[in-house]
Amino acid sequence: MNLIIFGPQGSGKGTQAKVIAEKLNIPHISTGDIFRDNINNQTDLGRKAKKYMDVGQLVPDDIVIEMIKVRLSQTDCRPGFILDGYPRTILQAEVLDKITEIDKVLEVWISDKESVSRISGRRSCPIDGSVYHIKYNPPKEEGRCDKCQGKLLVRGDDTEPVIIKRLAQYHEQTEPLKKYYQKQSKLIEVDGMPPIKDVTKEIFEKLRITN
Ligand code: AP5
Repeated sequence: MNLIIFGPQGSGKGTQAKVIAEKLNIPHISTGDIFRDNINNQTDLGRKAKKYMDVGQLVPDDIVIEMIKVRLSQTDCRPGFILDGYPRTILQAEVLDKITEIDKVLEVWISDKESVSRISGRRSCPIDGSVYHIKYNPPKEEGRCDKCQGKLLVRGDDTEPVIIKRLAQYHEQTEPLKKYYQKQSKLIEVDGMPPIKDVTKEIFEKLRITN
């Protein structure tokens, strides 16, 4: 199954995409994670992306499109994949339609107020990418990743002024994808406001994945 998950910042795209990918045994492709890996490894791509990410702007389409073309051509994507963070503009969606066939698109909705609250409490593991929340999904030991014991960090773009900018660009540039995929009869709407397990349950039911 070739899937897309999109929604505002903090809607739980990354959290849910990891669960779906594990369940279906397909790769979870997060463009944000790919950029952050490149920033940590000080690559050219990382240097280019960082200046946009730090201020809450989208990385230019040409850079992202090239990167996603390369990633989707890799053999582990043959049985399917879940894209998290791509597409974010209509142009990116149009290019994707030329590269591959998408089966279903999950739109996870939360309010802007909830988005700011969730992102402010997010803690991420820089080693294995695990994501926690200090209140809604705390690690067993404070400040440490459950899986690898790595020290949990606050992402550089998770400050309130940057979150507000990221949300504004989401409404302007990414939300129009809803109509784009509605027209293709691929859109599945998901309420992202309930607790993590309940959102997973709704997604599994709507994708007809058995537990
Ligand atoms: P990216 O890394 O994709 O960030 P984002 O879109 O801003 O999304 P987030 O990771 O902030 O939120 P999420 O929905 O994944 O939430 P999560 O599951 O972590 O992109 C970063 C940047 O890269 C962009 O700003 C842009 O610059 C660049 N970029 C990436 N792709 C691009 C593209 N295609 N084009 C151009 N630029 C691109 O959950 C958040 C928190 O809430 C966690 O703490 C979690 O534990 C908690 N939580 C999750 N679900 C629930 C729930 N149901 N109830 C309570 N808490 C919950």
